[in-house]
Amino acid sequence: MCGIVGSVGLHNPHDYILDGLKLLNYRGYDSAGLAYFEHGIKIYKDKGSVEHLETLVPHNFSSLVAIGHTRWATHGVANKTNSHPHLSYHQKITIVHNGVIENYQEIKNFLLKEKYDFYSETDTEVIANLLDYFYTKNNDMLMSIKESISLINGSYAICLFNDDHPDVLYVMKRSSPLLIGHGDGFNLVSSDASAMIKYTNKFIDLNDKEYGIVTKDNIQIFNEKGEAVNKEYISRDIADIAIDLKGYPHYMVKEIEEIPDVCAKLLSTYYKDGDYHFDKELIDALSKANHIIFIACGTSYHASLVGGRLFESFANISTSEYIASEWANHPRITGEWPFVIMLSQSGETADLISCLKIIEEKKIPSLVITNTEGSTLDRKCQYSLLLHAGKEVSVASTKAYVAQVSLLALIVGAVSKQKYIYEDLLKATSYINNVQNNIEKIRNIASNIKKSESLYFLGRGYDYLLSLEASLKLKEVSYIHSEAFPGGEIKHGPIALIDKNTPVIVFITDEENAVHMRNNIQEVVARGAKVYVISTKSLAKKDDDIVLDDFPYYLTSVVSSTFAFYLAYYTSLLKGYNVDRPRNLAKSVTVE
Ligand code: AGP
Ligand code: GLU
Repeated sequence: MCGIVGSVGLHNPHDYILDGLKLLNYRGYDSAGLAYFEHGIKIYKDKGSVEHLETLVPHNFSSLVAIGHTRWATHGVANKTNSHPHLSYHQKITIVHNGVIENYQEIKNFLLKEKYDFYSETDTEVIANLLDYFYTKNNDMLMSIKESISLINGSYAICLFNDDHPDVLYVMKRSSPLLIGHGDGFNLVSSDASAMIKYTNKFIDLNDKEYGIVTKDNIQIFNEKGEAVNKEYISRDIADIAIDLKGYPHYMVKEIEEIPDVCAKLLSTYYKDGDYHFDKELIDALSKANHIIFIACGTSYHASLVGGRLFESFANISTSEYIASEWANHPRITGEWPFVIMLSQSGETADLISCLKIIEEKKIPSLVITNTEGSTLDRKCQYSLLLHAGKEVSVASTKAYVAQVSLLALIVGAVSKQKYIYEDLLKATSYINNVQNNIEKIRNIASNIKKSESLYFLGRGYDYLLSLEASLKLKEVSYIHSEAFPGGEIKHGPIALIDKNTPVIVFITDEENAVHMRNNIQEVVARGAKVYVISTKSLAKKDDDIVLDDFPYYLTSVVSSTFAFYLAYYTSLLKGYNVDRPRNLAKSVTVE
């Protein structure tokens, strides 16, 4: 999940590499490092942040090539030795890598027999040494890359330079994303466009198993057979990749507060001139399907649960929802005319990319709903719909979740030809600000729960689906153990967890379930729980903690989610954590 950058021919590589790494921090922040060539190879790296790395690196270095890395450790603990860049055994090849080499042990065993020593625990060093092994024999870097590609299994985006040619970068890619940015008299490499956009908006996107040589004036790409490939330049929408705190203290709160605007943009994109505005072929394909299979991970999976229920309730199409890694392991395909919908904020989640390979083999029509134009899933799925939510930087997803649910509701409206779904959404999104009027109360709840070891969310129906996301969000940024249960399920086991003062957060926004939820509250209160209730005006009782204006019950994930996001945000702040970069996580999960 790491982020990689590289530059060749740039006058001031220091700024590009370090600023670029800061922009790629969402991909991992266990360690950071950079390498360049100035009277020999220079490598600076350490555990910790890019800001820390900055204090170690000379400010003015001049080098035709430079590469940088921000790590999310998969092989080997987060320490200096395991940090990238890695130098090959004969001190020839310096590489940065994003991905996981599945057969690294096998290759390592072979290289050990060939008298190679290893200093780190990483799979990356094995690739540096494999390249070194071939290069020592053939003295041809491109040939060595081609030979290595034929032996490596797994995922990689790699940028490297060779001590013998310190005016050239080499790149190779499989599964992990890699872009080359073209400039006037320089070329750049990066895991995504955000790091390069200040310098260029002309990119080359590498396909799997492609590799290449990049000089300051030239880019040459080859396929795995070694044939030269003609690549077209692509550009990116600058507004979608711009990263700016706009005066907010953290990205998470900025992104929560952007939710009403994100919804407005989504509604105006997919509903125009009094009707839904989607590709007709897509809506026909969905209407023809007799079963929809949703596949996603984490927060996106929670959005898919809402989408599934919307399809069943309003479009009368049965659905199943799967966590991607589970589906890839046991692909369940139901119905004569199945249709797959994948949800992915990043569009790069490795677990989903492996599902896509199965979906393509089985020739099932597929749609991805993503926030990232040009991402692997956006490019490869048969149909793609963009969330247009603007870049989400905070590792904990907020606005993308609401956008996913809202877009699914619009699709269901289009498939079922029911305009009131759009009208309900419009109304619901106008009530989100209403949650913001309760900030002080939410902060108080955060202050009450911040010392808890465990906490539970309860809801029924759509409120239960929202509870799952509320619980994940709190867990991710506050490190409090939390779980979500359907109200009806609590007495079938989880109630055993309730003790004196255990916090239980309850959503009651659906009239049909309100009476039962109130009974559930009594049951946990009787066991000592400290209950916090979020309800809507027509269902509220005197002591409820937060009372929101009434909105259509099936859109609780659009409205009440803002409460859950603020709660997680304030709890994390009160505990003194880095809310935008929670421990052990990364924004783009590009390894399986
Ligand atoms: C969100 O808060 C999480 N960091 C995580 O669960 C995320 O939703 C998941 O990894 C899926 O990512 P994607 O939407 O980019 O595929
Ligand atoms: N496998 C490499 C490491 O552990 C890269 C990790 C990644 O891309 O997440 O250092």
